Amino acid sequence: MDRVTATLCSRNAHKARELERLLPGWTIEPLDAEGWPEETGATYFENARAKALFGREALGPDRTYIGEDSGIEVDALGGRPGIESARYAPEGGRAIAKLLRELDGVADRKACYVSELVCLMPGGHELRGSGTLAGRIADEPRGEEGFGYDPVFVPEGEDRTVAELGNAWKERSSHRARAARALLAALGAALLFAAAGCGGTDPTASRVLRAFFAGGPVARSLGERFPHEPGTRPCVVHDKGVALQATCATDISLVKPSRAVVTLTEAWNHGARAHTWFFFIRRDGTVQSVVQEGRPAPLP
Ligand code: IMP
Repeated sequence: MDRVTATLCSRNAHKARELERLLPGWTIEPLDAEGWPEETGATYFENARAKALFGREALGPDRTYIGEDSGIEVDALGGRPGIESARYAPEGGRAIAKLLRELDGVADRKACYVSELVCLMPGGHELRGSGTLAGRIADEPRGEEGFGYDPVFVPEGEDRTVAELGNAWKERSSHRARAARALLAALGAALLFAAAGCGGTDPTASRVLRAFFAGGPVARSLGERFPHEPGTRPCVVHDKGVALQATCATDISLVKPSRAVVTLTEAWNHGARAHTWFFFIRRDGTVQSVVQEGRPAPLP
């Protein structure tokens, strides 16, 4: 399988492993370098970009680089430590103790984790993804997993801290997971269409979909019902001879750099029955597998 290799420009090797789990199909190599720049940016984005640029200076322009910057923002501290999180106090017990001291007797415990990812592609293309996780600061540390402030961070809607919820939870729901998904979505447009040999701009989405709908008898017959570009349209389906109003929607997104998914969804019989086909397509446009969910409507 085609894998994308990217260099993560961070001193924290554990973030490279975490990011690799968050970006399926990617190999993430940590950057082994001396002379890292100071984090002087006014925003997470500037710091993340500066780290990626530092990587590109060190290893040359022909690779893909990812810079990451993150922090925790506490409402009652006016958003501190924010982009200063890594320098607030030595990570772990000491940073947590300092934070709890500052919040001693403070009723407003609202806080937010923020992560910003910047990806520099070999052609000079630049992409970004941001993610946040809202929550509150607990009164005392609990749990063993994660790192940094995780033992005192309780995500919104949860009773347990991130350190108690664990690494598997983080992989699905952390600010970094959300940023990685946003980055993947941004990359989807850029990579998917380049991979299909169609250039990198929007109209290519329709070209990929037109090629898909022309690709085989099932796709051809579905093509009569579904829009040939991402979008939604009303149509009529027949159930046991009875004509029903339905809404048919087509979408295309990237699940892995080597694999995209075309999603065809229809809601019919006033939405009481919905049905989705997921067609996984390879880089070359051929269909790899089909998954169906819900009760199928009859084909036209
Ligand atoms: P930097 O992104 O390397 O500048 O550092 C971000 C700092 O924010 C870390 O040293 C942690 O203190 C904190 N931080 C960022 N993400 C997390 C997380 O997932 N869990 C706990 N602390 C985090």
